[in-house]
Amino acid sequence: MKTKIVKINSENIDEDLISEAASLIKEGKLVAFPTETVYGLGANGLDEEAVIKIFEAKGRPQDNPLILHIESIDQLMPLVEYVPEIAYQCIERFWPGPLTMIFKRSSLVPDVISGGLDTVAIRMPENKIARELIRWSKVPIAAPSANLSGKPSPTAAHHVIRDLLGRVDMIIDGGSTGVGLESTVLDLSGDIPMVLRPGGITIEDLKEIIPNVTQDLGTIKESEDIVPKSPGQKYRHYAPLAEMRVYTGDVEDIVKAINLACHELKIQGRKIGIMATVETKDRYNLGIIVKVVGTREQKETIAANLFDVIRQFDDEDVDIILAEGVETDQIGMAIMNRMMKASGGKIIQV
Ligand code: TXA
Ligand code: MG
Repeated sequence: MKTKIVKINSENIDEDLISEAASLIKEGKLVAFPTETVYGLGANGLDEEAVIKIFEAKGRPQDNPLILHIESIDQLMPLVEYVPEIAYQCIERFWPGPLTMIFKRSSLVPDVISGGLDTVAIRMPENKIARELIRWSKVPIAAPSANLSGKPSPTAAHHVIRDLLGRVDMIIDGGSTGVGLESTVLDLSGDIPMVLRPGGITIEDLKEIIPNVTQDLGTIKESEDIVPKSPGQKYRHYAPLAEMRVYTGDVEDIVKAINLACHELKIQGRKIGIMATVETKDRYNLGIIVKVVGTREQKETIAANLFDVIRQFDDEDVDIILAEGVETDQIGMAIMNRMMKASGGKIIQV
């Protein structure tokens, strides 16, 4: 398949290009596009055959359900059985934005979208290119992250090109995404609202509206005894080719522990990459690849760069990544969730 790559400026959207992309969606084809979280791989969410192509292009297991992206509230009603009161408050406060909500689904939603569940995940993105694409397509757009299954989610068009060139009909290059981690997934289909995946909207944000919101244990701990509620969380995600270890605790202790580990790993002849922060980057020995993921002063920078830095380490063929963990308040919860998944649960408390 030939993939057309087009550049669109979100501040000055080229209507011809958007309408061309929307036509592809309407014809049942695949278009990768930017959102404020990560790039998505889009298809007409009401067209079963088009949606199946998404799973094929990504190599994604079919039991892992997809998010439907909408552009207006009018598009929500036909897709769900009902909208709980609390959802209206979340819509008011967090949409458009990086919050996905799970509802009981209506019969309009194809079975492939929901992976056999009786629920559907819906999000209204904020990115202008994403919104225009949905508006011109006039259908909800099903879109998982636009990476090959198991790879880190794409936060720049070149990540998408690397993974999906020749597998999709169009890739829209709209620059770097903002948040850098996928949306928060909030399940409102049961009795107690539950976060199934931490993301751009933090638990602290949600608590202001839903004081009794809970968090699925599988998002915090990697353990065989815990079966995550969200099918997507059971797969090893965001995995670098290299082994990865994450160090958490006091920053001074983290630096010491990583330096000690380096010493031993070097003797074993392993090629090491350290994922450091602005505050600590000069504390590591020379001759080791050190990459700065962001600053501890503003953890949003770490979220924004995390997946890109993981991909960079793979490009440099390191054998092992030693990553500094962060505190789990605010966006730190989502960062640590992704680091936990990327490392296959190799979290070292120092
Ligand atoms: O930020 C995002 O959410 C991005 C952009 C493109 O919008 N999309 C994204 O999609 O991350 P994906 O498919 O990579 O992740 C969707 C997650 C998966 O963990 C999936 O299992 C979960 O949402 N999910 C989808 N529908 C669900 C449902 N009905 N019940 C429980 N979990 C669901
Ligand atoms: Mg994904």
